[in-house]
Amino acid sequence: MIEEIKSHIAEVESFSSDDFELVEEFRIKYLGKKGILNKFFSSFKKIPNEEKKEFGQMVNTLKTKAQEKVETLKNAIEAQLEDKGVYGDLLRPGQAIEVGARHPISVVKNQIIEIFSNIGFNVSEGPEIEDDWHNFTALNLPEHHPARDMQDTFFVQTNPEKYLLRTHTSGVQVRYMEENKPPIRTISPGRVYRNEDISARSHCLFHQVEGLYVDKGVSFADLKQTLLYFTKQLFGNSKIRLRPSYFPFTEPSAEVDIYWGLETEIDHRITKGTGWLEIMGCGMVDPNVLENCKIDPEEYSGFAFGMGIERIAMLLYQIEDIRMFYENDLRFLNQFKSAL
Ligand code: DAH
Repeated sequence: MIEEIKSHIAEVESFSSDDFELVEEFRIKYLGKKGILNKFFSSFKKIPNEEKKEFGQMVNTLKTKAQEKVETLKNAIEAQLEDKGVYGDLLRPGQAIEVGARHPISVVKNQIIEIFSNIGFNVSEGPEIEDDWHNFTALNLPEHHPARDMQDTFFVQTNPEKYLLRTHTSGVQVRYMEENKPPIRTISPGRVYRNEDISARSHCLFHQVEGLYVDKGVSFADLKQTLLYFTKQLFGNSKIRLRPSYFPFTEPSAEVDIYWGLETEIDHRITKGTGWLEIMGCGMVDPNVLENCKIDPEEYSGFAFGMGIERIAMLLYQIEDIRMFYENDLRFLNQFKSAL
């Protein structure tokens, strides 16, 4: 073995080339992952103890000599190239820039924004640390209202005022109405927080898009038609149904289902055998909410809706576990390279 190393050292010492590729070949032969040096290093265990010291020293000498040789030759080649002109070798291969991918939440958010902006909705935003008025009270959820429990809230203790991490994007409705006069057509995407156990289906942090339309004579038919247009654009689906529901900030309120179909086993499982999937809540803005925002409910009416972006992304891309969105695993994220 020692003899073998010695002959390699001699080879390394005598090697010379001004061809970049040959030097690179030489580097790989000695220092590459499957190179000669690594072979010696991995056979170290098998060397008898009394020979270990000499063996180790020799291998290290070989390694240092190989590294020095590669560096010297590469430097010489580079210096030579630079001599050819101020910019060096213009034919040198460029450095590849890795193409990134948009996060699926952003992909779906952008799609939703695009669909609504085509019918005149603008985009508005509000703070993630919200006050009680905008998240609850102005939305017809006074203190001690039982519906506050529907949303497990993270509170931020800053006495005497009470702040919280917003539990929904509906508070942006209030902010927007406080600052703008009708006609109002706005959608508000954003991150929301709830004190929930993390599982494949729910997370303590997720994203919603809120929609609001306030003008003279806005009716439930407008709401239905807007949602039908939206689901057709996003899902390519022409059937929705509205089920009566309850939200404090809308009256009447409804939940919107899209017809998903029952073709595959997965369809059966995710629709619980009905073919229908719930995708959002909606309703006519409660007159109390308009009043809280200094808009006269005698003169104006409006509709609102809210949906979870993760839920829609999970449906569109058949993602089974919500936690995938937050783990930043490149094997997951790289699959969205072609999405815009
Ligand atoms: N804020 C509701 C939630 O987080 C969703 C929602 C339902 C928003 C109905 C609305 C609405 O604007 O009209 O569950």
